[in-house]
Amino acid sequence: MGRSMREIITLHFHRFYCYLFFLLMLGAVGCQKKTTANEKSSLDSLQRHHYTAMGDSISIAAQQALMKQLMTAIESGGPEYAVNFCNERAMPITDSLSNRYNCEIKRIALRNRNPNNALTTEEKIIYDVYAQLITTGASAQPQLVINQKELLFYKPIVLGMPACLQCHGKPDQLDPKAYVAIQSKYPDDKAVNFSLGELRGMWKITFHNMP
Ligand code: HEC
Repeated sequence: MGRSMREIITLHFHRFYCYLFFLLMLGAVGCQKKTTANEKSSLDSLQRHHYTAMGDSISIAAQQALMKQLMTAIESGGPEYAVNFCNERAMPITDSLSNRYNCEIKRIALRNRNPNNALTTEEKIIYDVYAQLITTGASAQPQLVINQKELLFYKPIVLGMPACLQCHGKPDQLDPKAYVAIQSKYPDDKAVNFSLGELRGMWKITFHNMP
């Protein structure tokens, strides 16, 4: 009994895909050797796209929740009361996102308020580039960095609302009572004298699961 044309074509395709798969495996093994020799130092474009999209949606969700929490606190108790609410780590959504994606979510800054939000030397380089781009009106895209066993995502935070100035603005814009509360809680505060549209900080998302 001879094979039908369709069967022959399917068989050939099957062989072709097996061969392709074999080639891909060889490629993957080759890459594996290279990465273990000198640590993983690059992502392919698919991984890059995946982690950028993930970092972007995590930071958007965290930002929205933070804004909601901050604005509700200002409305209900004024800026002085809201001083405890510009903190992404005090939000249940941050925990749930961290658990779901096995990542750590932070905001960091050159002129930081919380001492835990300072920049490393490498992060200062990214920050300076963002500051430069934002000053010139260019678009500042998220960045991925591979750091030994971690994958880091950075995205600029621009001071985008006049409400931020009550706690981050120039002396005449600061809410006096809120600022007293800030100074007593953060004696080394550097997060004032900002203007609208200026780079305020960066989202930093550390993915613990390396691709
Ligand atoms: C009611 C006062 C208040 C307002 C309004 C406020 N913040 Fe904050 N901000 C704080 C405090 C307090 C911290 C320190 C939080 C912590 O301990 O992590 C902070 C921290 C930050 C940080 C983390 C880096 C750092 O300096 O430690 C960023 C980024 C930030 N604020 C941006 C903003 C933006 C953008 C707005 C406007 C949407 C805003 N804040 C409005 C009080 C405020």
